Amino acid sequence: MRVVTVTRPGGVEVLSMAHRPDPTPGPGEVVVDVSAAGVNFMDIYGREGRPPYRRETPFVLGAEGAGTVSAVGAGVTTVAPGDVVAWTGVPGSYAERVVVPAERTVPVPSTVDVRTAAAVLLQGCTAHYLATSTWPVGPGDVAVVHAAAGGVGLLLTQIVRLRGGVVVATTSGGAKADLAREAGAQHVAGYDDYLDVIRRVSDGAGADVVFDGVGRATFDDSLTALRRRGLMVLYGAASGPVPPFELQRLQTSGSLFVTRPTLGDYIATRAELTGRTDELFGWIASGSLNVRVGGTYPLAEAARAHEDLAGRRTVGKLLLVP
Ligand SMILES: NC(=O)c1ccc[n+]([C@@H]2O[C@H](COP(=O)([O-])OP(=O)(O)OC[C@H]3O[C@@H](n4cnc5c(N)ncnc54)[C@H](OP(=O)(O)O)[C@@H]3O)[C@@H](O)[C@H]2O)c1
Repeated sequence: MRVVTVTRPGGVEVLSMAHRPDPTPGPGEVVVDVSAAGVNFMDIYGREGRPPYRRETPFVLGAEGAGTVSAVGAGVTTVAPGDVVAWTGVPGSYAERVVVPAERTVPVPSTVDVRTAAAVLLQGCTAHYLATSTWPVGPGDVAVVHAAAGGVGLLLTQIVRLRGGVVVATTSGGAKADLAREAGAQHVAGYDDYLDVIRRVSDGAGADVVFDGVGRATFDDSLTALRRRGLMVLYGAASGPVPPFELQRLQTSGSLFVTRPTLGDYIATRAELTGRTDELFGWIASGSLNVRVGGTYPLAEAARAHEDLAGRRTVGKLLLVP
């Protein structure tokens, strides 16, 4: 089978197509013929060898996808060949075939097409936990969603709205601003002027929560955007990691809270994983949640997908198709 490997930590030049023997499932595992693999920012961090995503090279990149089960290992009773499943947090997904632990497969309902399933698992579960668990958004809550036209951003904007929140979205402008508005953001601004919007929308109090996946470039202003005792959710580092931080600043900025969550801790059990995917698939089937695939690339063009994502040229989700 063909796979995309990382030969050593580095730029897109370290991505290489390789051939590997077709996998066989071990006990409790299934082999899936991949219909589409998701491209995520963590794949870029992994390719670059940024901690904590650094792995011994060479390795097959990718953590997410959907496809059709072709073989099951000993003891697997819940999944059968021919089933359409999706997964997240499973290494080696930039490939024609992937071995997935049966208990990490999510059955894809017939109401959701396989590419949409591949597109929503990682970023959808992320947007879901951010808005329902990290800060369970309530009616009238004012939430800043940075990079709102991105993969997580478009989904998060919609979920905050589904829960009755007010979204102040940031984007770099143009068509991205239009998309954030289409996703339901009531206020759309640039990174330089959204603080004015927050002040206006909250009568000077500040936002209840900031969802910040941009990181280094936005972190300081994100703290400024918050109301007293508001929550800063730093969930990514698209512009680079935030440097060491003086905790005393939380006191002088209004007794703020800061969290740095990661998806694995919010889908650690099967019940939590499927609870989130059931709700996501339900919203998709009912038309309440739109999953926008902003780009589909052949597996062999993973490097181009990485360049586009890191270069801020994309909206929504990027997929690789073997
Ligand atoms: N913690 C978790 O559980 C978790 C899970 C999934 C993803 N994430 C994080 O969520 C963030 C978004 O991921 P995504 O895959 O959905 O990506 P994305 O939002 O589709 O792409 C990143 C966007 O960030 C904005 N951005 C601002 N400054 C940037 C810079 N210097 N370089 C690159 N982009 C910049 C760009 O939008 P504009 O052009 O509009 O500024 C860009 O399109 C990433 O930080 C990722 O690591 C975290």
